[in-house]
Amino acid sequence: MTTFTKLGDQETPVISVHPARRISKINPNIYAGFTEHMGRCIYGGIYDPGNPLSDENGFRKDVLEALKELNIPVVRYPGGNFCATYHWLDGVGPKDQRPSRPELAWLGTETNQFGTDEFMKWCKVLGTEPYLCFNFGTGTLDEALAWVEYCNGTGNTYYANLRRKNGHEEPYNVKYWALGNETWGPWQVEQMTKEAYAHKAMQWAKALKLLDPSLILILCGQDGTATWDYYTLKHCLLPAFSALSTSSVPLIDMHSIHVYTCSSSHLPNATAPLAAERAIEITSSLIDLARIENNVPPSQPRPTICFDEWNVWDPIRAEGSKGAEESYTLSDALAVAVWLNVFIRKSRDLGMACIAQSVNVISPLMTTKEGITKQTTWWPLYLFSKFMRGWTVSAHVSCATYEGETAPVWLRGVMETPWLDVSASVGEDGFVNLAVVNIHDEKGIEADVQGVKGEVAVFTVTGGDVAATNMKGSEEVSVKESAWDGVGTYVFPKHSLTLLKWKD
Ligand code: AHR
Repeated sequence: MTTFTKLGDQETPVISVHPARRISKINPNIYAGFTEHMGRCIYGGIYDPGNPLSDENGFRKDVLEALKELNIPVVRYPGGNFCATYHWLDGVGPKDQRPSRPELAWLGTETNQFGTDEFMKWCKVLGTEPYLCFNFGTGTLDEALAWVEYCNGTGNTYYANLRRKNGHEEPYNVKYWALGNETWGPWQVEQMTKEAYAHKAMQWAKALKLLDPSLILILCGQDGTATWDYYTLKHCLLPAFSALSTSSVPLIDMHSIHVYTCSSSHLPNATAPLAAERAIEITSSLIDLARIENNVPPSQPRPTICFDEWNVWDPIRAEGSKGAEESYTLSDALAVAVWLNVFIRKSRDLGMACIAQSVNVISPLMTTKEGITKQTTWWPLYLFSKFMRGWTVSAHVSCATYEGETAPVWLRGVMETPWLDVSASVGEDGFVNLAVVNIHDEKGIEADVQGVKGEVAVFTVTGGDVAATNMKGSEEVSVKESAWDGVGTYVFPKHSLTLLKWKD
C-alpha cells in the first residue's frame, strides 16, 4: 500500500518507506505469463521445429532461456479468444493424425501441431505451472470434464488412459482452470448474457469440482468495473455447495479481469494503469459485497482476483488478426512499471496476474528466425520479478501531480496521478526494494527518501526519450546498475524507473 499527499510544484517531494509495516504477502503468481494460439506466439514463438535454435521438442531454446530469467510461476494457455472454438482433442495424439481447422478468433488455420502434451512439456522445461482455459463457445461440459480427466486423472478411466497411451504415464495435476474467456465480448463466438454465463459457469463448476475438488476455478469477469462483474460475482459466489460429496468446497476460487491500457501521448499512457488499480479496488469490494449479500461464511476462503490479461496494447496500431506485434517504447516501459507498482500496492487482492502475452504477441519478448529481442517493456518486468517479492510494505509519497488528460478519461475524476509512482516491498532475505517511476518526460525529480539504511543498490531503466524503442536494431532501453550512499536526497531521472535496494 502506498498513501499519497499532493504537494505544490515547488515543494520538495518525500518518499518514506516503512519496512516494518508489512501490508500483505505478494503472491508470486502476479508474475504469470500467457501463451495463446494467436499470431506468432506459439508457432514461430515458443515452438519452432526445424529451427537450429530449437531443441528436440521444437521448443525455442533462446526463448526458454529468456523466459527463465523472468522466473514465471504460471502460464495461461491456449487463449484468450482462441479458446472459444478450440477442441483440445484435436491437439493430442500422433501429430500426423491431428486435424487442421479454420480458426475463428484470429481468422487463421490451426494445425494442432502444438497441443496439451506439448504445452505441459514446455511448462516442465520452463519450470512453470500450467493454467488452462475451457472452451465456453463451441465446447461442451463433457469435453471440459474429459480435458480435466486427461490432465489429472489417475484411475483406470478412458481419458486418463488416453494420456497414458499418448506416452504420458503421470498426471499433469493442472490446478488452475478458467471458466471461459471474455464471454461477454461481442467478438466472441457464442457471446453470452451475464445471466446465461453465470448459470452455465455454476453448472460447469459443480461438475468439475465433483470430478476434481482440488481444481482452482476462475470465473470470467470483465474489467472489474462492469455490471457483468457485479452480476457474475453475486450469482456465483455462494456458500460452499453442500451437494458436493467433499462438503465444503467452494465452486469459485478466483474472479478474472482484463484491462489493456494505451495512449499515443506519453503522460496519459504512463498513468493509464492507475485505472487498473481502481478496477482492482472495485472488484475487491464486489467480491465482499457478494459474500455479504449471499451470507458466505467467513470460514470460506475469500476469492482473489486473477488479472489474467494485462498490458499496454493499442489494437489499432497492433491489430489482433495481424498478430498484434507491438513495437514498445520507453513510455510503454514506464506504463508497464506503473502496472507492476499497482500489482505490488494491491497484493492483498491479487491471486494472479498474467502479462498478455509472453512471446511476440503484445509481448516484451520478440523472435525472428535468427534470435530474440528484449523490448523496452522487458526491463521493468525483469526487475520486478527479480526483486519485488515477499511482502508489500507501507510507503508514503508526497509530490506534485500531473494534471492533464488521462486514458481512460474517467481516471482523472477518480484518482490522483502523481509524478512519482511508488511501491515498496521487503523480501524474505530482509532486503527492502523501492520502485519509483518518474513519469515526467522533462525533468528529474529530487526527493527526500526516508527509511533508507546504509548502502543502496540502484537499478535504473531509462532511454534517450520516451519514444526510444529496442525494435530498431539497438537496445536503446535497458537496465543500468549503480550505487548510492543513501544520504540526502535522490534525483529520480526524468522518464525513468528506479529500483532502490537496501538491507533493512
Ligand atoms: O491477448 C489478446 C486477446 O485480448 C485475447 O485473446 C483476448 O482474451 C483479449 O481480448
